[in-house]
Amino acid sequence: GDGPHVEKQPWSFAGPFGQFDKPQVQRGFQVYKEVCSSCHGLSLVSFRNLAEAGGPGFSPDEVKALAAEYTIEDGPDGEGEMFERDGKPFDKFPSPFANEQAARASNNGAYPPDLSLMAKARAVTRGFPWFVLDIATMYQENGPDYLYGLLTGYHEAPEGVEVPEGQYYNPNFISGTTLAMAPPLFDEAVEYTDGSPMTVDQYARDVSAFLMWTAEPHLEARKQIGFGVMAFLILFAALLYFTKRKIWSKVD
Ligand code: HEM
Repeated sequence: GDGPHVEKQPWSFAGPFGQFDKPQVQRGFQVYKEVCSSCHGLSLVSFRNLAEAGGPGFSPDEVKALAAEYTIEDGPDGEGEMFERDGKPFDKFPSPFANEQAARASNNGAYPPDLSLMAKARAVTRGFPWFVLDIATMYQENGPDYLYGLLTGYHEAPEGVEVPEGQYYNPNFISGTTLAMAPPLFDEAVEYTDGSPMTVDQYARDVSAFLMWTAEPHLEARKQIGFGVMAFLILFAALLYFTKRKIWSKVD
């Protein structure tokens, strides 16, 4: 199909019964917080979402403490002034830059996109026409597959390939072979406390799983409901079939 070569990865949330691996999503959040959040926003996610069912499973107290680490610009107050205060669970993650201009100024003119929906935005890269998007959600792991591929796809440019100033070679990038994001992950850069490998590979898997959750926060509920609906339809179809047989059995 279209786009870069995307290799399938084994995700816990793949398939009709897949569910998030909570410790993995928590580690992925840690990677986002300690690495990605210096350039990328997560503007559609509230702190309290991190404690909701189907998510990473933080406790409400953990979320309160986390929110309080952030400074939120609020206002205007009674005098029409903006003011700063500590974050609360209902706040959204603050953006790392005041505005797009400031973001570009810090990134060689490139804009680090908001990551809230990135796993979804990059899910449909295999040439599905829009009207089969619903079917394509069966392939929604394409999104995190792509993110993982991007984060692990940096290497030396091959002989003879010019890499422009401020660009980095990565053949897994969706539009071209170089992009303005320097390799963000390094072995040992994030301190895991659960014994998981502290490698680029593991960080990339974990943050991609986390971003799948931010993009699809109701994935678990949706899959459970989907299973119930399919079970009901099969039973109902069987019931209709036998009813039809019974009703028509007296016609000869
Ligand atoms: C682009 C993820 C860390 C700066 C992107 C894209 C993704 C991404 C998915 C979009 C690629 C596409 O369009 O398909 C991440 C993740 C990070 C991370 C998961 C942490 C592990 C960073 C950091 C910086 C940064 C720390 C700044 C120092 C950028 C920039 C772009 C970008 C400037 C735009 C690149 C271009 O369009 O040429 N990032 N990023 N990223 N990121 Fe990051």
